[in-house]
Amino acid sequence: MLVVGDLKERLLVLKLSLSATNALHGEIILPGDKSLSHRAALFASLAPGKSVIRRFLNSGVTQAMLRSLTELGIDWSLNDDCLIVQSNGIDHFRMPMTPLSCGNSATTIRMLTGALAASGVPCVLDGSPGLRRRPMDRIITPLTQMHVPISSVNGCAPLTLAARGATQPLQAITYHLPVASAQVKSALILAALAGNGATTISEPGPSRDHTERMLSAMGAAITTDSQNRSVTVQPLAESLTPLDITLPGDISSAAFLLVAAAIVPDSQITIKDVGINPTRTGIIDVLRQMGAEINIENEVVRYEEPVADLTIKTRTLKAVEVHGEMVVRMIDEFPVFAIAAAFADGTTVVRDALELRYKESDRISTLCGELKRIGIQVEELSDGFAITGGTCAGGCCDSHGDHRLAMSLALAGLRSSNPITVNNAEILNESFPDFVNNLIKLGCEQISPATLC
Ligand code: S3P
Repeated sequence: MLVVGDLKERLLVLKLSLSATNALHGEIILPGDKSLSHRAALFASLAPGKSVIRRFLNSGVTQAMLRSLTELGIDWSLNDDCLIVQSNGIDHFRMPMTPLSCGNSATTIRMLTGALAASGVPCVLDGSPGLRRRPMDRIITPLTQMHVPISSVNGCAPLTLAARGATQPLQAITYHLPVASAQVKSALILAALAGNGATTISEPGPSRDHTERMLSAMGAAITTDSQNRSVTVQPLAESLTPLDITLPGDISSAAFLLVAAAIVPDSQITIKDVGINPTRTGIIDVLRQMGAEINIENEVVRYEEPVADLTIKTRTLKAVEVHGEMVVRMIDEFPVFAIAAAFADGTTVVRDALELRYKESDRISTLCGELKRIGIQVEELSDGFAITGGTCAGGCCDSHGDHRLAMSLALAGLRSSNPITVNNAEILNESFPDFVNNLIKLGCEQISPATLC
């Protein structure tokens, strides 16, 4: 039996009793993909007319995007998970009276900055103390080269965009991103829609290409090279076409359930209708390398995005090495991957993952620190970590305000010797509010929480 603490108390305790009925079983349909929900809401706001977006993820970070769009004069409504956006197009954004509050969402601030650069509307973009620590110089430098009037005091939020004549195009550039990043690439793609010629952006690894796919489907002239390392964007010749789309489930949320089933003996679960864009499926490849049995079935393509059902059966896991481009293809999955590694035979090593230090928390330092607290054998490396599987005593740990860290630590409780209590776990609502409900559906039972520890 799986036991889950009451989230109202800010604590999350997942515990599995050692009976024969412990295995996780069932079928799950996840909420829509976070990256695609952000993009669908924003891109719909750039397209004159009415967009319909089904299976929109309603979570902390996407609410930050919707709030900002309201400030920009976009009319939207959300009924259950169907988002309707009514827009007059990119040239009709309203100048916000106060700074746009992007909450904890780096995707919101970076992509909105690109869109606002294209629109020419002056504004200030800001966010939570956590967001103010995230590096923004990675968009400021190239946007400045494009003659976007953008400034910041210290290379972080708040970001100020001064007014720019709407008829004055931005400078088209050729730019190589020092670090692969879909958020930065997307900001530049959006700005390039208002360029005076073709802009080309290249990057060292294949970051997620949802922006390219969705904007192309809406009529933008965007081409990518065969290795998905370089994208060329033509200025918008005609308005974008509104969206009529059903989003796929989020592979990054699916990853938590895949790892849960991978570490709990005799489990078999199916996650229906999940996005399997190859720039996001590193976690499937790596879990398979570790020995997990994962089947991909019923594949279809919707709005240029491949979608399928994933079935996983528990198998004995063995350690693997992760480095190079694989890091980019599973950039959000390292906290949960670490939990799979903690119950695998041997020592798993992750390298080339310095970028993890610039996520919602310094995901190398916070992850290693918290894994140690619950008795997992881990060594922090400058650009990754090494985990030797086998032991997990349990105990108290903390989310550090990082949604993925909260959920990952909680999952370790499924195999730990003693319960694991995650403090400040409510942060998981930022991306996966259904996390606990989904685990309950697979065999959990809810209990009263322990006290804060
Ligand atoms: C995202 C891109 C990734 C990822 C984030 C969402 C996106 O960030 O970590 O959760 O939607 O484009 P980077 O592209 O900066 O690595």
